[in-house]
Amino acid sequence: MDDLRDKYVTRIRDAADADALEAVRLAAVGKKGEVALKMRELGKMSPEERQAEGPKLNALKDEINAAIAARKAALEDAALDARLREEWLDVTLPTRTRRQGSIHPISQVTEEVTAIFADMGFSVAEGPQIETDWYNFDALNIPGHHPARAEMDTFYMHRAEGDNRPPHVLRTHTSPVQIKAMEATGAPLRAICPGRVYRADYDQTHTPMFNQVEGIAIDRDISMANLKWCLEEFCRAFFEVDGIDLRFRASHFPFTEPSAEVDIRCSWEGGTLKLGEGDDWLEILGSGMIHPKVLQAGGIDPEQWQGFAFGMGIDRIAMLKYGIPDLRAFFDSDLRWLRHYGFAALQAPARHAG
Ligand code: DAH
Repeated sequence: MDDLRDKYVTRIRDAADADALEAVRLAAVGKKGEVALKMRELGKMSPEERQAEGPKLNALKDEINAAIAARKAALEDAALDARLREEWLDVTLPTRTRRQGSIHPISQVTEEVTAIFADMGFSVAEGPQIETDWYNFDALNIPGHHPARAEMDTFYMHRAEGDNRPPHVLRTHTSPVQIKAMEATGAPLRAICPGRVYRADYDQTHTPMFNQVEGIAIDRDISMANLKWCLEEFCRAFFEVDGIDLRFRASHFPFTEPSAEVDIRCSWEGGTLKLGEGDDWLEILGSGMIHPKVLQAGGIDPEQWQGFAFGMGIDRIAMLKYGIPDLRAFFDSDLRWLRHYGFAALQAPARHAG
């Protein structure tokens, strides 16, 4: 029995991995292992011998099992140590100096706009890019015969002949999200809705897909004065130029009454655009007091609530702020352009303090 013990203790100690250890275990204390064979021999012994040998054999079995368990734990520890050594990573290493990717100016500007309006208590609402013509037009007080439908160069989704479901369109503006937001939360409400919109148009300042941000604020006593303050506050923070000058020009939209378009004062000198000075004006958004019919379409009682809305071109204000001359370049995926105009991943959205 002492020979058995020595033999297996040595073999266990020398087992190099889990498989080798399991082989030793089977040979020693497995069903057909040497210890089991010895156990079987007990049957042939006299009762006295059995009483002396039985406990010794059991103790040997226990001892071998304990040695196997200890070796197993040691092997696992060693394996873990080896893995930790191998997978070690110095997280304090400096990042690569050459930027691999960059944040697209549209994403950056969307973040900036969202951050500024968040400071004024606006949350972000979303809606689908494929919309029913009800949300895109009717709910916004643009009925079927209205010229605004034709003006918008709408992309209609194809319908098979005989398919009488209401037509779907690629949304031509973010205004349908106004209705979705009203339906989702009711009044009072303060939200902006940035997103992609589509119109069949293509030149230096138009692309078939572009980006807008819609804003709405609904409460019991919201007025044009609130609209004006919010937009001025936004422009000051966004453009980071002192003396930003806005001009509110009377206009017409079916979904607002009264309506105003907002221009920003600028100068073009030697081909460079300067904001806040000069005698030129650049239109940046449409706005107004939400039409009672639009509130109604969104399930809000116009006798109780009123509010303002505006819609602004994200690409347009990105071009102005970062001096990007051609809108089409935004969507060309030209790596050199992206490296030049892109932003570093960790660059926080620029924001005016105070
Ligand atoms: N939806 C308009 C457009 O795309 C922009 C707009 C004008 C949005 C006035 C508004 C608004 O919310 O009040 O041309």
